[in-house]
Amino acid sequence: MAKRTIVTMPGDGIGKVVLPESLRVLKVVGFDADYVHGDIGWDFWIKEGNALPQRTIDLLEKHKIGLFGAITSKSKDKADAELSAGLKGKGYTYFSPIVTMRQHFNLDVCIRPCISFPGNPLNFIRKQPGGGSEEPRVNVAVFRQNTEGLYAGVEWTNPPEPVRKAFESHKKFAAFKNVPPSDLSVSLRIITREASRRICHAGFEYAKKFGFKSVTICEKPNVLRETSGMFTEEAKRVARDFPGIALWETNIDAQMMWLTKNPEDYGVVVCSNMFGDIASDAFAGLVGGLGFACSANLGEEVAVFEPTHGSAPKYENLNPPIVNPIAMILSACMMLDHLGEEAKAKRIRDAIAAVVAGGKVRTYDMLRLTGGPDVFSKGAANSAQMTDAIMAQL
Ligand code: NAI
Ligand code: MG
Repeated sequence: MAKRTIVTMPGDGIGKVVLPESLRVLKVVGFDADYVHGDIGWDFWIKEGNALPQRTIDLLEKHKIGLFGAITSKSKDKADAELSAGLKGKGYTYFSPIVTMRQHFNLDVCIRPCISFPGNPLNFIRKQPGGGSEEPRVNVAVFRQNTEGLYAGVEWTNPPEPVRKAFESHKKFAAFKNVPPSDLSVSLRIITREASRRICHAGFEYAKKFGFKSVTICEKPNVLRETSGMFTEEAKRVARDFPGIALWETNIDAQMMWLTKNPEDYGVVVCSNMFGDIASDAFAGLVGGLGFACSANLGEEVAVFEPTHGSAPKYENLNPPIVNPIAMILSACMMLDHLGEEAKAKRIRDAIAAVVAGGKVRTYDMLRLTGGPDVFSKGAANSAQMTDAIMAQL
């Protein structure tokens, strides 16, 4: 196979720590690629008024595959305050670069696997009725629609007159008709048939490939009758093409309860954007949390792989770094799968499994410590030592 070029975008904070760790593992496993650096994150907002510079978009356009660390996003007032003096008042508005990237390249299918590693002290444990406890094996992949829904970005405080007029044409808006315009904010939940179909189809394809007997659509069609209604309708349509796989329907609120009661009953979970964001964090909490949560953002042409955690600014200046690189390394495994290098991905996952099961090398999160410079004296490994242990297994 031709040598790939991967666009590496460490971003901010601990993104700069974990991304290089994943590259060390990729090298040892024998993945032969060139890497080009892509600028992204808060520094570029401050200096250029754009957290995702056009040159980075061009690199992704050209090479199609990105590995991304994490970025820092701050509130509107902080973003405006930190913008460099020369750019202030010139109409620059901060947009999250990762959301922008997903929308620009239509990376509409987000996959977030939440799979427990035996021996991880952070795994979910359940009390048994007769005493004792059990540790159900969690093997879930959350398929999150990544570009629309409540995160489409169509929102206002004090909506313009024609928009407000349009709202007033809906009889349910009567309840809000006396709210002063500047006291009213609205975020639009946009669902389209095509995007719903694509995410549902991706979920069913995954179920078929990995032998899952059901796909769970997690929405709220009893209340969000139009948007969740359309999403569910498309799920049912897609399900007809996968006769051996049952379609289960749950509501997001009930799902949050069920997943801590019987997480082993779920395999593939498909959601719209915000519900998928919530469900994937919740499932991730059962298998080790942010230090283990990886993801893929897939479009028709471009794909970007990233841990789901953010830049954890409170730890960015700790030296040596304390954060767990496993989420980033597992994201690199998803990239390998995507590139047809499944055997290499499996070797890395097996190596991680061996380190976790061995129990000798654990980052602070795995020991349930509060992060800080003192975690090493309490037995925690640093980020590089965790990577070294994984590489030693390889
Ligand atoms: P965060 O994910 O950065 O950190 C939350 C907490 O999780 C940390 O304080 C730490 O205790 C733990 N944690 C995260 N990653 C870890 C790792 N690899 N190993 C061990 N522990 C880890 O979320 P937070 O603090 O809400 O946001 C910080 C910044 O990150 C914000 O500016 C936010 O906007 C941004 N963010 C960026 C994301 C992205 O780049 N995709 C996603 C989420 C947040
Ligand atoms: Mg999230």
